Amino acid sequence: MLRKTTILVLLLSLLSTAALLANGSRDSGTEDKGKLVFYAGLQEDHAAMIAEEFEAEFGIETEFVRMSSGEILARLKAEKDNMTASVWYGGPVDGIVAANEEGIIEPYVSPEAVNIREGFKDPKGIWTGIYIGYLGFVGNRTILKEKGLEMPTSWADFLKPEFNQEIVVAHPGSSGTAYTMLATLVQMMGEDEAMEYFKKFSPQVRQYTKSGTAPGRMAGLGETTVGITFLHDAIKYKKEGYEDIVISAPLEGTGYEIGGVALLKNGPDQENGKKFIDWVLTKEVQEMGKTVGSFQFLTNKAAMPPEEAMPIKDTKLIDYDFQWAGENKKRLVERFSIETSTTAPTE
Ligand code: F6P
Repeated sequence: MLRKTTILVLLLSLLSTAALLANGSRDSGTEDKGKLVFYAGLQEDHAAMIAEEFEAEFGIETEFVRMSSGEILARLKAEKDNMTASVWYGGPVDGIVAANEEGIIEPYVSPEAVNIREGFKDPKGIWTGIYIGYLGFVGNRTILKEKGLEMPTSWADFLKPEFNQEIVVAHPGSSGTAYTMLATLVQMMGEDEAMEYFKKFSPQVRQYTKSGTAPGRMAGLGETTVGITFLHDAIKYKKEGYEDIVISAPLEGTGYEIGGVALLKNGPDQENGKKFIDWVLTKEVQEMGKTVGSFQFLTNKAAMPPEEAMPIKDTKLIDYDFQWAGENKKRLVERFSIETSTTAPTE
C-alpha cells in the first residue's frame, strides 16, 4: 500500500508537470534576468502586447514608452550619455538612420536577420525591418458628401481651394509618418519644387498633429474631412468601428515606410536588448501584430501578411531611399518648418 507522503509527493510532481505543460516554453524561474526598456514607435496597444509577451516568454521585466519617431530621436539625443532604453522598436527606419548619424545606434546583425526579406534590413545591422506601411489618404465619407467633395486621389488635389482648412496631417518634426510624406515629395519632385508645394499646402491644413496616426482617428470621428496617414492605420480605425472612413492612394505614386528595430548604443541591458530584437524578428512575433489591429505588411520571409492589408497591396510606390531620407531628415525638417512657418506640436 502506498503511504500518504508518497501519494502527496506524486500528486505534487504531477501538478508541477501540468503547470509546466500549461505554460509551454514560458519562463517560470525566479532568477533575476535583469530588465528591458524599449522605446516604441508603433501603436500603443501593439507595444503593450509585445512587452507583456516578451516578459512572459523570457522572464525579463519589460517596460516601454510609446512616442512618435521625432520624439524618440529627440529623447535619445538628450539621453545619449545616460541611456534609459536599450532598443528602438517600430517607427520608420529613416528615424533610426538619423539616430545613427548622431552616434546613438549600436550595429547589431541578429541571427534572425537571415529570415528577413532582402532590401528590408541594413547590411551593417544599423536597423532591421519588422514591417512595411504605405502612405496614403484618409477621409470621412459623410462629411465629403455633405460638402460635395471628391476623395483626393492625387497630391495635387490638396491644393484645390475646396480643401482649404479641410486637412489634418502630422508634423514632420514629431511624426515619422509626416516625415515619410516630406521625404516622399522631395524624392518625387525635387527639393525646391516640393518646398513650393508645401508652402501652398500648409495654409490648407487645419491642424498639424503630433502623431501620424491621429488623422485617421480624426477622420473616423468626423473631426476632419480628409487627412494623410499610413493606410494600415486608417484600416485599423475602420475595423474598430469608424465606419465612415474611406481611403485612397495618390495615383502618381506614394512613399512607404520600413518600420524597424535597432539596438541603442550604451543601453543599460544590451544582452536583453539583443534577445528582444532576435525575438521580434521571428515570424510568430511579427504575425502577432494583426491580433491588435496592426495591419502592416511583414518583413519575415515566412510571415503571412494580414488579410486586411490585401485591398492596398497594389498601391503604386516610389523607389523610396531610406538611407538618403535618414541622412537628410534634420535638414529637411528644418527647411519644412521655415518654409511653412510651422513647428511640431508638443501635445
Ligand atoms: O503603428 C502605427 C504606425 O503608423 C507605424 O506603422 C509607424 O511606424 C508609426 O505608427 C509612425 O508613427 P508617428 O508618425 O507618430 O511617428
